[in-house]
Amino acid sequence: EIYLNGMTGAVPRLPTDLTRLEELAEHRLAPGPMGYVAGSAGDGSTARANRAALSRRRIVPRMLRDVGERELSVEVLGRSLPAPLALAPVGVLSIMHPDAELAAARAAAAQGVPYILSSASSTPMERVADAMGDAERWFQLYWGKDREVTRSFLDRAKAAGFSVLVVTLDTQLLAWRPRDLDQAYLPFLHGAGTANYFTDPAFRAGLERSVEEDPNAAVLRFLGLFGDPGKTWPDLAFLRAHWDGPIVLKGVLHPDDARQAADAGMDGVVVSNHGGRQVAGSVAAADALPRVADAVGDRLTVLFDSGVRTGDDVFKALALGARAVLVGRPYVYGLGLDGQAGVEHVIRCLLAEFDLTLALSGHRAPGTVSAADLVEEPG
Ligand code: FNR
Repeated sequence: EIYLNGMTGAVPRLPTDLTRLEELAEHRLAPGPMGYVAGSAGDGSTARANRAALSRRRIVPRMLRDVGERELSVEVLGRSLPAPLALAPVGVLSIMHPDAELAAARAAAAQGVPYILSSASSTPMERVADAMGDAERWFQLYWGKDREVTRSFLDRAKAAGFSVLVVTLDTQLLAWRPRDLDQAYLPFLHGAGTANYFTDPAFRAGLERSVEEDPNAAVLRFLGLFGDPGKTWPDLAFLRAHWDGPIVLKGVLHPDDARQAADAGMDGVVVSNHGGRQVAGSVAAADALPRVADAVGDRLTVLFDSGVRTGDDVFKALALGARAVLVGRPYVYGLGLDGQAGVEHVIRCLLAEFDLTLALSGHRAPGTVSAADLVEEPG
């Protein structure tokens, strides 16, 4: 379809090279929100390393393998997904576009990819669920200090039809992010902020005055409880006891942590460094991926994010051991630049480019992609 546009001269509204979206967004969107989304921890070296680690791996295409008919679907956590792709959880999307999470969720539903809703959503999770109908949705938990709020989130997510719980481990404290610090930008103060918390009965019960009367106190309560650096592995038993569907731990980079996840009865991990936004100087996610996959690939579903920008990145992540990938910033730029249509553009480009990469590399399905498809260039 994208090539057929060439016959009519219909030019897409956004670039089809998704690596160009960030630059375009820097030109068109406000500096505060843009700094929050594009920004990383420290000097940005982890985010750059994420890209470099993917780029260092090169695909070695195979010829004459009958790739005329292809099937992109994959089994992930007991569900069949149309492609090995999901939208990563990203908080406070109201800073990017007034339709915020509703636009992202509708785009995911329209394109058939799972949407992972952030705990820090600026739209209450029930409204997002309503907008998605039966479409596949997962809930990302910021596993904070207040047990009642955690329990309430799990109950609400279950009731609203979120099927998989994604527990983010790498954000128990917010990292040193110079672009936000320099601009004194706190996304949670803007627009609808973190309405998902503010509408929560357990969250509201802990406030002296209502969110409406004293919004600043509500933001302070949110900042005080959203993370909990005191948590340890045995605490996972609480989540296992209160969530009967699959649980995936996000932010795992060390093979031993992945083994502990399996021992704790978890179902999967997301190998991720939060898009380079947490530990400055951390290992590139794509370098951590094969080690984690080797350690637990037979016990856990291994997912991947941090640095995926193109269809060939998706292919490389599968070759390095991931079952599927999550994409973060690109769809957020799509949202900021063109709302739901912009998110759909990003998903369609990624899927189309992945399909072509798969075929041109000699594969008919994601399941046959392996380490043998890649070479690694010297760093
Ligand atoms: C994030 N990420 C994130 N993760 C999470 O578990 N809960 C969240 O609320 C957020 N919020 C968030 C906001 C913004 C602006 C960004 C860019 C990222 C991390 C996200 O899920 C994912 O791990 C990274 O975005 C993946 O890296 P790329 O694709 O952005 O390189």
